[in-house]
Amino acid sequence: MSKVKTKYVCQNCGYSSVRWSGKCPDCDNWNTLVEEIQSTGDRNKPGLKNVKINNGSYRLITEIDSVNETRTLTHISELDRVLGGGIVDSSVILIGGDPGIGKSTLMLQLAEKISNKKILYVSGEESAAQIKLRSDRLNYNLGNFYILSETNLDIIQAVIEKEIPDIVIVDSIQTVFRPEIESAPGTVSQLRESTALLMYLAKKNNFSVFIVGHITKEGMIAGPKVLEHMVDVVLQFEGERTHSFRILRGIKNRFGSTNEIGIFEMTDAGLKEVLNPSEVFLSQRNYGASGCVISSSVEGTRPILIEVQALVTSSNYGIPQRTSMGFDYKKLNIIVAVLEKKLGIFLNKSDIFINIAGGIKIEEPATDLAVAMSIYSSFRDIPVDSETVLLGEIGLSGEVRTISYADRRITEAAKLGFKKIIIPKGNLKNINLKKFKAEIIGTEKISDAVDKLF
Ligand code: TYD
Ligand code: MG
Repeated sequence: MSKVKTKYVCQNCGYSSVRWSGKCPDCDNWNTLVEEIQSTGDRNKPGLKNVKINNGSYRLITEIDSVNETRTLTHISELDRVLGGGIVDSSVILIGGDPGIGKSTLMLQLAEKISNKKILYVSGEESAAQIKLRSDRLNYNLGNFYILSETNLDIIQAVIEKEIPDIVIVDSIQTVFRPEIESAPGTVSQLRESTALLMYLAKKNNFSVFIVGHITKEGMIAGPKVLEHMVDVVLQFEGERTHSFRILRGIKNRFGSTNEIGIFEMTDAGLKEVLNPSEVFLSQRNYGASGCVISSSVEGTRPILIEVQALVTSSNYGIPQRTSMGFDYKKLNIIVAVLEKKLGIFLNKSDIFINIAGGIKIEEPATDLAVAMSIYSSFRDIPVDSETVLLGEIGLSGEVRTISYADRRITEAAKLGFKKIIIPKGNLKNINLKKFKAEIIGTEKISDAVDKLF
């Protein structure tokens, strides 16, 4: 018998090597190389010439009948939105997120909403009794809902093939394993093989699978890219655990746009959909406080009004602190430098703290102007008019640069009753000013914005 060959595979990036090393030479992560058994697949098999190609196994695209994609609405509108209009039949959907963010809760809620379907919930983390307890506490009426507390995929496969459910939920992919693969559950080869088996079963038996996956601290779905390539849809559940808001983001979608997000709030009674996010994020506003400025961030295709809060205090240490929650730290440093250079204010003896209220993370530049003006407002201790919204990206020479989706953001701000909206001058020409009740003012430079505000 030939000797079993092994190789070392990086659990983060999939790099493989015959020798172990502490640091992966490809992705530079430490202690990620794990020994795995090498497949003995021989590419020059002599028997290959005996392989028969079946008639019709490949065809011209024009010869293939069109099929309509059928979808099942989940009746959780925020989830349907991210999926692109419900679950496509026999699709494989990966849901990633930090532990404790609410993935299992979302899955249980989904099961309750589509209780007319036959659902198999494979739980490798919680016992059947725990799941029952949670569903009782949430008062769920789950009829056709089977719970399988199992991690061995052979058994899971047998149950699936016996019951043929409409939807299978696997919570989580890190806990299940295929016994014929020697490496431990959660390793790249187990994740890949387990997912491949679930995909095969889904396509063969025509059911959809939700695969729950935990995220590594680097923010990638653990066992990372290998799974993302395989599945049809990748959704990421994000949020600060200390805040109640959760964002479901589409990262990949073979059946729709990834340009959509779903917003939820974690409450005592499970996850609640947030249908009017602006009102929720502004619900605890500080009227008339210095350092608080309203702006708008476009999440997916929806504009959301947010409150930027800045606190500028004198520093007790040699090096002043810069802390940012929900706003890019590097961008904050750039804005501070531009403020110093272009407005002549000195912040090198001040600690600066930025917070985006509600625990939302801003990942686009249109809120730069609001961040700059909130810092200025706190530094001078003069409040910004609470009926004003600020929009604009800031460039290194202090210019206010044009932004995307200006019209949508203005519409949202005007709808919520804001009276004055300051936007980049470059955006003015594309805006129909008469359409809005609010006063819309263009600005070219941050010094100009300061003159208009203070
Ligand atoms: P869970 O869905 O178990 O997270 P995950 O599967 O992503 O690890 O959610 C766990 C958290 O959600 C837990 O800390 C408690 C909280 N939670 C509520 O606040 N309200 C609820 O109704 C439920 C079910 C959970
Ligand atoms: Mg869970």
